[in-house]
Order: sequence, then structure tokens, then C-alpha cells
Amino acid sequence: MDKKDAISTESNTAKKQKNTFSGNVGYILAVAGSAVGLGNIWRFPYLAAKYGGGIFLLVYLILMLTFGYAMIISETAIGRMTGKSPVGAFSAFGSKKWLKFGGGINAVVPMLILPYYSVIGGWVVRYVAEYLRGNAAEAAEDEFFGSFISNSFVAEICFVVFVFAAFLVIIAGVKNGIEAVSKVVMPMLVILAVITAVYSVTRPGALEGVKYFLVPNFRDFSIMTVVAAMGQMFYSLSLAMGILITYGSYLKKESDIEQNTTRVEWFDTGIAILAGLMIIPAVFAFTGGDIKTLKAGPSLMFITLPKVFDSMGLGNIIGNVFFLMVLFAALTSAISLFETCTATIAEELGFSRVVSSLIVLCVSLILGTASVFGYGIWSFVRIFGMQILDFFDFLTNSVMMPVSAFFVCILIIRVIGFDGVAKEVKLSSKFRRQPMYYIVTKYIAPFFLMIILASSIASALGFITI
Ligand code: PHE
Repeated sequence: MDKKDAISTESNTAKKQKNTFSGNVGYILAVAGSAVGLGNIWRFPYLAAKYGGGIFLLVYLILMLTFGYAMIISETAIGRMTGKSPVGAFSAFGSKKWLKFGGGINAVVPMLILPYYSVIGGWVVRYVAEYLRGNAAEAAEDEFFGSFISNSFVAEICFVVFVFAAFLVIIAGVKNGIEAVSKVVMPMLVILAVITAVYSVTRPGALEGVKYFLVPNFRDFSIMTVVAAMGQMFYSLSLAMGILITYGSYLKKESDIEQNTTRVEWFDTGIAILAGLMIIPAVFAFTGGDIKTLKAGPSLMFITLPKVFDSMGLGNIIGNVFFLMVLFAALTSAISLFETCTATIAEELGFSRVVSSLIVLCVSLILGTASVFGYGIWSFVRIFGMQILDFFDFLTNSVMMPVSAFFVCILIIRVIGFDGVAKEVKLSSKFRRQPMYYIVTKYIAPFFLMIILASSIASALGFITI
């Protein structure tokens, strides 16, 4: 029996013992649930506004359909082929040091993201609570956000509520937890997103914003448009974090990987576009077309939007709809991070699912609390000039993520081979975009990844601004 056969037999045995998704719909919604998150709703619109509106969107779409596609296919195929989460998946191909490192880094990234992502999830919990209590006017006050996050006690409670919700879903299992929640929450999210977007684009003065967002203007193009779009694509599609490898390991052999990938890509991008349509025109209408406000970055969702909602008359209702949608999006993403960490611990250390998820919960509580305190009682702490939460964000997304993606590419180029991936994908798909997959993975991806890494480090050191 050669190595690949051994792997596939092993994976079949692994699958018998393991949870799997019940079918395609559950799988697609769970992966889309991972992909659609704060990145789509909060990050995408302000990056689009900052990097030229329509032209950013165009560059993003091109990258998503080529590079993004290749990365999703690669990770899913690796997961399904081995039936393992990242560490096990990499070491299924040998015991060389770089394989250990590649699997390790793919597994560590989600463990570092989950805590601070949940802190932001906690902020969303607070806004949902305020809107449910009818406090749209309070949420729109200048000081609201700042004084909330600097109050470590309240922020900590919100954070704990959020991580706990994710924990409960993980305990329930892949099918009864992740899949069941995604099946309910994702359709609701789409409905809420459509309602908010329609409401926003029909405000007086909003049309200018729609134009700015959708019509490309080549004069706005710069190399930073590409760099920013690329970083965003990785984040948004949850790439290079071991998530798609883990979810791929739960995928049945008869599931069409190529078709699933296309669906997930469009789901994720569709929600990002809807988020752009909710936020950019609404802020345009509110500020009379002042792009500066849109470029404000993080404060846009928590400070500017509540003001915009409050000025709209229906502030309470639309604020409720909007933040509930954000909460769903953030929760399903956190669940995917939680699952990846849990699966890795269970597989590598042999603990039960419950014990493994308790370990993940504890680590998240410790690291997340540090991020909460970083805005409050520990606000004097700076790591490389950054606040604790910003530091975790920078470390994972700007430094570790390109490195872990690089290892995925090298694993494919040097060990599995394009034929190996193609064989796995073709078990259930036509693999129409195989030639493109080959060119992107072999020639373009490693080069692009180096550019992301270099540019994000340069920006952290203050040489360029992203
Ligand atoms: N893809 C998610 C988003 O767009 C973010 C995320 C990052 C989710 C990392 C899981 C892991 O918000």
C-alpha cells in the first residue's frame, strides 16, 4: 500500500469515529458561517471606501476568483484527504521538521485569533443588548463606545457571554452544534443583511455612495489597493488558519469540493457587497459624502453607524436588525475557530471533545481577558507600540497568516503534488478550473504571500500606511 492509499484508508477510519456534516447544505452553511464575519461587515466596507471604492471591489473579485479559489480548494482537499485537522494533516505526509512547523502554525493561528475575535464579539453583544432595550440614542452618543470598552468589568462580561455561546455550540458537536446553528443563523443573516441594505440605499442622498462603491474609477488604483484587497480576501475567506483543513476533514468523499468552493466564495462576497451597500451609502447620506468618515476604520461600525441609525428615524429597529446580524456573523466565525482548536487538541493529545473544548475555553478566557484589559485597566501596556488586542490582530493576520499560507502552498507543490490534489478533488468534481488552480498555486501564490508579509511588516514599522 503506498502512502496515499494509507492516508485514505486512515482517513476513512478516522471519519467513522468522527463527527461529519450531514450533507452539502450543512457543510456550505458552516463554511460560509466561518467566512462571513466581522471581516465582511466591518472591515470590507471601510477598506473599500479607503482604497478607491469600485476599483477595490473589482480587484477583490479578481483575487477571490483566482487566488482565493485556489487556496480554498487546497485546504479543503488536504483536510478531506487526510481526515485530520492541521497538525495531523501536515504530519500525515511525513515527519520532517518543516511539516511539523507548517501544521503547527496553521493550528496556532486560530488559537490566537479566537480570544481577541471574541472580545470584539463581546462588543457586539453589548450593542445588541442596548438596541434591544431601546437605547438607540445612548448608543449614538460620542462617548458611548470609548467609555464602554474602557470599563473592563462590563466589557469582560460581554466577552465571556460571547465565548461561552461559542463553547456551547462546540460541545453539542459538528452536526448537532455547528451545522444546526449555521442552518438557522445563516439564512436569517441573509434576510437581515438584505433589509438593512435596502433601507440604507433608499435614504435620500445615498445614491452617490452606491456609485462610489460600485463603479470602478481607474484613477483610484494603486498598488496598495491590491495589497489591501489581498489581505482582506485571506481574512474574509478564513484562509490559512487551519479552519478549512478541519472542516474539509469532516467532508464526505461524495461532496463536490469545486462546487462548494464556488458557493462559499459567492456567499462570502455577496455579504461583503451587501455590507458595503448598507454602510457606504448610509454614511454618505449622513455626512453629505464625506469619505474621511468612512475611512475611520474600526470606529466606523461602533461609533459612526449608531449615529447614522439614530439620525434615520427608525434607529432602534434598524440598529437591532443590523447588530443582530453582526452578532450572528461573528458567532459562526468564532465557532469555526473554536472547532479547529478543539479538533487539534483532541486529535493530537488524545483528549475527549469535551475536555479539549474546555482547554480551548480556558486559553481563550485568559488571552481574551488580556485584550479586554488592554483597553481598560491595562491601557498603559504597549507591545511594539500596539494595544494588546491590536497586537494579536497584527501578529496573526499580518505576520503568521501569510507564513501559514506559504506552508500550505509548499506542502502542495513539494509533497502532495498537483495531481494528488486533482485526484482528491475529482473524486466528486469535474475540477474545471484545474489549469488555473495549477498556475495560481505554483507561480502566483508564493510570490503574493511574500508581498503581503513584507507590506504588512513595513506598515507595522511605519514605512507605509495600509
Ligand atoms: N472570515 C471571518 C470574517 O470575515 C474572520 C475569521 C477570521 C473567521 C479567522 C475565522 C477565523 O470575519
